[in-house]
Amino acid sequence: MAANLQGRHFLRLLDFSPQEIHDLLRLSATVKANKRAGVRGRTLEGKSIALIFEKPSTRTRCAFTVACIDEGAHPEYLGKGDIQLGKKETVADTARVLGRMFDGIQFRGFAHQTVEGLAQHAGVPVWNGLTDTWHPTQILADVLTVQEEFGRLQGLALAYLGDGRNNMANSLMVGCAKLGMDIRIVAPASLHPDPDLVRQVEEIAAATGGKVLITADIASGVKGAHALYTDVWASMGEETKIAERIATLGPYKVTQKMMEMTGRRDSIFLHCLPAFHNLETEVAQQYPEICEVEDEVFEGAQSRVFDQAENRLHTIKAVMVATLGR
Ligand code: CP
Ligand code: NVA
Repeated sequence: MAANLQGRHFLRLLDFSPQEIHDLLRLSATVKANKRAGVRGRTLEGKSIALIFEKPSTRTRCAFTVACIDEGAHPEYLGKGDIQLGKKETVADTARVLGRMFDGIQFRGFAHQTVEGLAQHAGVPVWNGLTDTWHPTQILADVLTVQEEFGRLQGLALAYLGDGRNNMANSLMVGCAKLGMDIRIVAPASLHPDPDLVRQVEEIAAATGGKVLITADIASGVKGAHALYTDVWASMGEETKIAERIATLGPYKVTQKMMEMTGRRDSIFLHCLPAFHNLETEVAQQYPEICEVEDEVFEGAQSRVFDQAENRLHTIKAVMVATLGR
């Protein structure tokens, strides 16, 4: 029987059981199939949803907006500078006001504490659209993409190369361990994940049959991997660290050779996006070496990055429908 997630917040995958995550993936597949078949849902009809963004976003903002509209809800974008949150008004006060007017709240921003504060005080479901520490909705899209490719998740190996302490590394570790996967964080020692989180993830993996490897060694990290995953080297808010990260993470750039080092012909490439893979952006022109993946891989036959991006819509819709839908 599917778990009942009505009224729940969605802040971190640590708060969800493997079965609850599988249920969300099943619902994601259903709403995806419905969308493809042109079947519109009405599970959020009459609801109003606040979308708070302290940081920029393409995929997350658009996924929440389109998912709301697909299910009959009204999305209201509250961008940086539009509201008083944290500046002239406390998080608790803003949460209580928004909770009286809206049926659900999405937050993307800096401190994870802010989204926890909103959830504590709003009285309506709060969904985390990325904080400095976690990016849980992204992981649902990532594992859905892996599941679509291989037909299962248990035992599959995913190697993440890059900043091992950022929101993506943290969330992938937790999500993959909960789903019984073999998660490898491949990063220089200075960017290895928080040891307390690694211990927690190892305990989760012990219970699910998953595996966890934290290593600086690329060859052993990618060997046998079904998926290689990377992210930008400097996350939003870390712009002053770009030069330092280019120096530290240069060897961890995902290359075609690295894809071959997996030893698997069916391995896929994943990236949460946005990605630096050529020189066609303003930032890449300023820092030509800021390139976490070769263009050949990004554009190549093993890349699934745009399936992943599309899956943000279906998985975010599933989270809203499961926690708030009728
Ligand atoms: N992957 C992701 O969260 O993309 P956006 O920053 O564009 O929302
Ligand atoms: N680690 C990246 C993820 C972007 C989706 C960031 O926080 O900027």
